[in-house]
Amino acid sequence: MSGAARRRSASSPGPSPHEPAPPELPADRADRADRADSPYDLNGRVAVVTGAARGQGAAHARILAAAGASVVLTDVQEADGAELAAAIGTATRRTDAALFVRQDVSRAADWDRVVATATERYGRLDVLVNNAALWHTAPVGEESEEWFRTLLDVNLLGPFLGVRAVLPAMREAGGGSVVNISSTAGLAGIPGHAAYGATKFGLRGMTRSAALDVAADGVRVNTVHPGMIDTPMIAGVTGGGERARERAYPNVPMRRIGTPEDVARMVLFLASDASSYVTGAEFAVDGGLAAR
Ligand SMILES: NC(=O)c1ccc[n+]([C@@H]2O[C@H](COP(=O)([O-])OP(=O)(O)OC[C@H]3O[C@@H](n4cnc5c(N)ncnc54)[C@H](O)[C@@H]3O)[C@@H](O)[C@H]2O)c1
Repeated sequence: MSGAARRRSASSPGPSPHEPAPPELPADRADRADRADSPYDLNGRVAVVTGAARGQGAAHARILAAAGASVVLTDVQEADGAELAAAIGTATRRTDAALFVRQDVSRAADWDRVVATATERYGRLDVLVNNAALWHTAPVGEESEEWFRTLLDVNLLGPFLGVRAVLPAMREAGGGSVVNISSTAGLAGIPGHAAYGATKFGLRGMTRSAALDVAADGVRVNTVHPGMIDTPMIAGVTGGGERARERAYPNVPMRRIGTPEDVARMVLFLASDASSYVTGAEFAVDGGLAAR
């Protein structure tokens, strides 16, 4: 029995045994009908996900599209991003479910182009996932001014430009949700993370203030703080793939590395009406790291 049928049977006696059985829906339509009364349903919503060509951003784009959203994927990596957008169209059986736009998040002009493409192609904009970022570590005495400025541009200026750019369209849609991907390095100090941590703490501060500025417009702004997640960003340190997943991480209370999907499910919650009264809040997805 589908979830919707279960909910229906809980509140009504259902068809009598003398009535003809309702026709079976094809699998994809049955699935959509099931989602329609779920607070996670994103049918008719439009989302932008930055840094969506790989890693966590790719998982966010996939889960939002699977929940019914139309998704604009952006990244500086064109080939992988375009390939994923096409794959999402195939997987969701909606050829227009996703499109790719090349974007450097640190450039305001690129944000104008992304918002214009989303609203022209899909008619509205409801969700922004500020996911794109660079990771660079060095002891503070050895960190370069150039890297510090580069991380500020991509990891902090980028999400700020994004929030500013999407606001008019979200206000016009009657509200929206911005999900800013910070890090556990935005919750506590980590050796070697003076520059990266400054951007991720900064993103947390920007989120709280922005949430207050736009709460009355129905626009919610929250941060997600991933712990160690198995993506190309940190594969050089963890070994990546199976090796990363199976290796014991004695400092992670849940004793495993996180997957992009672990984080994507939190992003879906924050993007959807399931989190309708949640704003200016911070969510660690880290296997318990931040609880220590
Ligand atoms: N992997 C982890 O362990 C981890 C931990 C905590 C937080 N995070 C955060 O999660 C988010 C996703 O990271 P990931 O692990 O998937 O990393 P990743 O390196 O696999 O993916 C990041 C994506 O961002 C893109 N990108 C980089 N600079 C860009 C720019 N200027 N404009 C547009 N796109 C750009 C990259 O091309 C890449 O596709 C980031 O914000 C990262 O800081 C990651």
